[in-house]
Amino acid sequence: MCGIVAYIGHKSAKPILLEGLKRLEYRGYDSAGLAVMNANIHVARTVGRVRVLEEMLKQHEGFDGTLGIAHTRWATHGEPSERNAHPHRDDESNGHGIVLIHNGIIENYTVLRKYLQDRGHTFQSDTDTEVLAHLIGELYDGDLEAAVQAALREVTGAYAIAVICENEPDVLVVARKGSPLMVGVGKDEYIVASDSSAIVAHTTQAFHLEDYTVARLTRDAFRTTTIDNVPISPQIKELEFDLGQIDLGDYEHYMLKEIFEQPQALRLCLKGRINPRDGQVVLGGITEFARDLVKAKRIIFVGQGTAFHAAMVSEYLMEDLAKIPTEVEFSSEFRYRNPIIQDGTVLIAISQSGETADTIAALQEGKQRGALTLGLVNVVGSTISRETDAGVYLRVGPEIGVASTKAFLGQLMVATMLATFIGRRRFLAADYVSSLLDELETIPDCVEKVTQLSDQIHDVTAKYADRENWLFLGRGYNYPVALEGALKLKEISYIHAEGMPAAELKHGAIALVDAETPVVALALQDELYDKMRANIQEVQVRGGPVLAIATEGDADIAASVDDVLWVPSCPEELAPVITAVPLQLFAYHTAVYHGCDVDQPRNLAKSVTVE
Ligand code: F6R
Repeated sequence: MCGIVAYIGHKSAKPILLEGLKRLEYRGYDSAGLAVMNANIHVARTVGRVRVLEEMLKQHEGFDGTLGIAHTRWATHGEPSERNAHPHRDDESNGHGIVLIHNGIIENYTVLRKYLQDRGHTFQSDTDTEVLAHLIGELYDGDLEAAVQAALREVTGAYAIAVICENEPDVLVVARKGSPLMVGVGKDEYIVASDSSAIVAHTTQAFHLEDYTVARLTRDAFRTTTIDNVPISPQIKELEFDLGQIDLGDYEHYMLKEIFEQPQALRLCLKGRINPRDGQVVLGGITEFARDLVKAKRIIFVGQGTAFHAAMVSEYLMEDLAKIPTEVEFSSEFRYRNPIIQDGTVLIAISQSGETADTIAALQEGKQRGALTLGLVNVVGSTISRETDAGVYLRVGPEIGVASTKAFLGQLMVATMLATFIGRRRFLAADYVSSLLDELETIPDCVEKVTQLSDQIHDVTAKYADRENWLFLGRGYNYPVALEGALKLKEISYIHAEGMPAAELKHGAIALVDAETPVVALALQDELYDKMRANIQEVQVRGGPVLAIATEGDADIAASVDDVLWVPSCPEELAPVITAVPLQLFAYHTAVYHGCDVDQPRNLAKSVTVE
């Protein structure tokens, strides 16, 4: 949600900033802007993608300096427009040439804006960010770092900012609270960004800024302090990130690439963690807390969006395999609900990015109330991975497509391993675990088999592509998958879709069923098969076309529905990892059919770093 990048060094800043913005564009893409120090600060801003900004800069001179800041925006305050795009300046008539970019939300900006207006400030935009730029200008007394610290003591909300000032042409000040920010440390240069993808091309040495921390960077030195000016020493670490992993290669979209990467990603996720012969699961990140987990009285999973759907599957897994009472909640609801946390409660945050603001807040709430906290996270070193007591990385590699695919499957795999890890230590028999892990080991191959059906799925998609409303039905483990299938379709093809437990259909939504409203039914040959078949009939007698996701070889269902997408047979608790895949491909092909921007769907951002 907004990507920021800043550079100070001896190289030309502009190409480094533009390259960084392209890497961060998945975080927000409704407008983009850049500022470079070159005697004065030159600012360029535009509505639209980074490539529009790049084109625009070809026609402008003066952007030749070696210090600059750049931003790609996902609008919170103020519509996407040039005047609301970042960077923003302090007051034009009484200012000090202070220019700033920001990711986050300044919650008390209305009060601050009024205060500044009373002191004669005139605002050019509707943004909270411009208010912060003016506040820093108001407090500036010849020392940018001090002015930033003072201003940040006055604001509430979340921020990752980078600030430059015409009076101090060799200084870059950055700060963070709540929104992610990393500082890459090169030789006589620093590159600061929302995440490591914009840094690794320049240096692999970097440190995360902690909350309420400010860094003052010159070309050959830096210092970090709290916003109260107390010095602190960050830990510089080696970044583990292979740029090759984020190349599109021959694929048309990242989403498709990431769907096809799933088999390999899952093999990496499992590697070294399961031993079917001994019935053992080895999860290094939680070993220290194994005893607490085994004795846990209650588990609460939190997440948002796709991660929430993974959390729902995790609830089933934890109760089935570990027999621990488990709940699942939207992070955003958990934190405002005055939740009761008793002794023995474990809160598990699920997140691809590890930066989702609501999930971070839920985790902090749980921690403060005494829960042991775990993170099931993909991005190494992200806020959730650092703030939890322990955790398990997904290890599925960077996910660039805004619609989550391989991270979802990774979340399900890790949750399965975690539940088995705990269950084995509680009561699960070694034989049972051995055969479950045997099956788990085959899942990447099953997923591969489904990805090979992409062309067939494409053809089915073409048949239904013009339908405007869809229902997705599932039961048991496949109920959350129905929700996920509907979410995928909505978010990338802008087609209305609703997922629900199949039995819930007749409690209201069945009123929507007609010949124009197709129903996707997850109808595997499991314990709930007959019930699901009955639900399918309820749809059919009302004229609704049915597309079934069914177990390979189920001739019966093939004969009774309009279309079938096959998945290999597997134990019920592992099914979601497989059944999600045809739905991902279905959504993908539908979106492509409609000419939608699959990797950067309208109004969405990959990482939701505001609440
Ligand atoms: C949907 C999607 C989102 C994310 C959600 C949580 O395809 O990607 O719903 O799952 O924003 O993000 P993370 O997992 O980064 O916490």
